[in-house]
Amino acid sequence: MNLVVVSNRVSRGKPNEPMTGGLAAALLPVVEKSGAIWVGSSGRVRDGNQKEPFVEIEALGAGALAMLDLPAAHYGGYYEGFANSALWPALHSRPDLIRASQDDYLSYREVNAFMARALLRFRKPDSAFWIQDYHFLALGAELRDLDVTQPIGFFLHTPWPTRAVIGGVPHHRDLIEAMLAYDLIGFQTEEDCENFLSYAQSELKLVVHDGIVISRHGRTRAAVFPIGIDPQKFAQQATKAMTHPDVSRLRRSLNGEKLAIGVDRLDYSKGLINRIKAFDRMWTLQPSLTRAVSLLQIATPSRGAIEAYGDLQNEVAKLVSDVNGRHGEVDWTPIRYLNKGYGQNVLAGLYRTAQVGVVTPLQDGMNLVAKEYVAAQNPADPGVLVLSKFAGAANELDTALLVNPHDIDGMANTIATALSMPLTERRMRWEAMMTKLRGGTIQQWFADFIDALQDSQLDRGPLGPVIADPPVPWPLRSVNNGARYH
Ligand code: F6P
Repeated sequence: MNLVVVSNRVSRGKPNEPMTGGLAAALLPVVEKSGAIWVGSSGRVRDGNQKEPFVEIEALGAGALAMLDLPAAHYGGYYEGFANSALWPALHSRPDLIRASQDDYLSYREVNAFMARALLRFRKPDSAFWIQDYHFLALGAELRDLDVTQPIGFFLHTPWPTRAVIGGVPHHRDLIEAMLAYDLIGFQTEEDCENFLSYAQSELKLVVHDGIVISRHGRTRAAVFPIGIDPQKFAQQATKAMTHPDVSRLRRSLNGEKLAIGVDRLDYSKGLINRIKAFDRMWTLQPSLTRAVSLLQIATPSRGAIEAYGDLQNEVAKLVSDVNGRHGEVDWTPIRYLNKGYGQNVLAGLYRTAQVGVVTPLQDGMNLVAKEYVAAQNPADPGVLVLSKFAGAANELDTALLVNPHDIDGMANTIATALSMPLTERRMRWEAMMTKLRGGTIQQWFADFIDALQDSQLDRGPLGPVIADPPVPWPLRSVNNGARYH
């Protein structure tokens, strides 16, 4: 099989480059090994009517990386517009932040169609396409319009919200109906998958049976594939990173003081404001913790051209300065706040240095920082993960200290509990989390999805009724005969 993986952002595989986002960093090692062609945006745009999309191709492990210049006229409407000002807020249950024009939607569809045309050059008779994330919800439908008959799968890295929330996205029916051109749609959690199926049933009035949606496109299977990491590799990276100059300098600067760490893109879904308020509350309620613990918050700037992100940058900066102003001392800064990205070769060491990892998003698909923090710990003296129950990772890492990120006092108390947790309890919780990470690696995720995508082709028999009402007169066969993919 010739696998073609598609995502908006790609990674060139330099470990010392700042992280390019969870998806690209996670995919890199498995794509490299698989021999797939990984196609994505070059980060550049190009004017005019290109007959042939401009593609730069370079070797990547056993396969290749193909980077496309996207059309200049549609890039803004696609990326800052529909993808990140309509879909992103909706997918993270913030319909109040949805801003999108008709033109944005058209640009989004144009870029999806452009990508489909570009992919044709990589198609072989035994190809399979695996499309990643919310930037390309309609890419499967565009490929089918170009007569691509090979298997096409899709994986969503973000959450999928309730019908009421996704219903706030302009053109939601048109778009989600187009998604049903995929043979297989993967989600991070059961809840996301159920929300999607229930939308198909109740909003699109389609027949849904045993995880399969019947539509005019044929059968689409929806299933759960929680994304993982390579815990062994990350642990090795963390040990090595302890001698990196940035990590050594951090350790020297601590003077016996404890450290909590947060690493996030500067995004409203990450719960940064509430997290900082929780630290503020903790230092106020427990003055003995001033000078005893500080927070290192790395917040990588993101999507700065979008108003909601600009506002958030200002709000977080102001709050950090306010908290530092009130709790700081001449020789002590409570929050070290950094607006830049770091490579995993440094991050792994920063995680291992911190006694507490704080991962407290308001909504998150999976959140691989949580998994990486755990994998980076010293087994003899592991740190404690404080994790939002609204991150997909909480389903697996249920021996972390789970918090409600809307409850500031609750988070303040939990962070203090984490700081004073005895070694035996820390080890017990950490070992249980490591067992989960070892059982659901990124390699396993990749293999499970590809197996299921190949299976989905076996199920292209004649269709039953497409519309849900009247009810299905015969039971539909399950694609995987009842087997669960996580
Ligand atoms: O959460 C899904 C995701 O694709 C992440 O992998 C990534 O960090 C983000 O969304 C996309 O960010 P960006 O807009 O910087 O590409």
